[in-house]
Amino acid sequence: MSSVTVRVPAKVNVQLSVGPLREDGYHDLVNVFHAVSIFDEVVAKESESITVSVTGKWSDQVPVDDSNLAIRAALALAKHAGRTYGADLIIHKDIPVAGGMAGGSADAAGALVACNELWGLGLPFDDLMEIAGDLGSDVPFSLLGGTAVGTGRGEQLSELPTGGTFHWVFALANGGLSTASVYAECDRLREAEAADVPWPQPNDSLLEALGTGDAYALGSHLSNDLQVAALNLRPELAPTLDAGRQHGALGAIVSGSGPTCAFLAIDALHARDLALSLTTTGAAHTAVPAYGPVHGATLV
Ligand code: C5P
Repeated sequence: MSSVTVRVPAKVNVQLSVGPLREDGYHDLVNVFHAVSIFDEVVAKESESITVSVTGKWSDQVPVDDSNLAIRAALALAKHAGRTYGADLIIHKDIPVAGGMAGGSADAAGALVACNELWGLGLPFDDLMEIAGDLGSDVPFSLLGGTAVGTGRGEQLSELPTGGTFHWVFALANGGLSTASVYAECDRLREAEAADVPWPQPNDSLLEALGTGDAYALGSHLSNDLQVAALNLRPELAPTLDAGRQHGALGAIVSGSGPTCAFLAIDALHARDLALSLTTTGAAHTAVPAYGPVHGATLV
């Protein structure tokens, strides 16, 4: 096989509950992930060494050196297999960069699946999940897709059946936010308030809404503990969230660590109208309708 293509989705967190800061610098989470229909494509081609190049909307914002998570994924896979392998990785980016939608994690997950196939390793899914967890907290979910509750750093996943398709609009912001800086701002705010940080718990009403496919109930239970921190760093997101609510969104939250804002719509038509309203009123420069859940990293 000389070339393999893998499609990987973005995610939104419908519940992101952040526990106290751990000694290792991470936080224990209840992180309810939901994979949505904005995709990156990772192509792996036979090569002597491991390289990466990026095409598409956000290509100029993605590093192509060894800090690129897709390269690190390919290197980790080769190490796991105990041999030196090569691959030219070509990433076609549609997921916003540093946008709180796990774009970098998606590319890492895509590289794992693509190189596993290109190199004929035939590693089972569980092995890929283990390597994924070492690469980043969100990488296992990018492999798995669907809807799932993540605990620990977010890498310990249990799948959640959903009762239907949910329709979303994602308002893209100018420039990204670093995940680490948003968590640090969250810690700073909690310290300043001397707040008692409870152990994160799943919201049963939200899980029920996902299970029954009730968009109205899901919209009213969306929550993100990183949102206050993200809004502190990017105050201009607050009017964007308000505009979405005014245009009938069932729920409006910052996606993960932001700055992308996520709006839950009633149905596909409402999502299209909502996206149009957000852009024509200037509340967002780009608004993308999408649906979920969708599959994780998939060979095409
Ligand atoms: O795991 P990942 O490399 O994606 O995490 C990026 C940063 O986000 C970490 O360095 C940490 O600052 C923060 N983080 C956290 N708690 C988590 C996940 C991520 O504090 N559960």
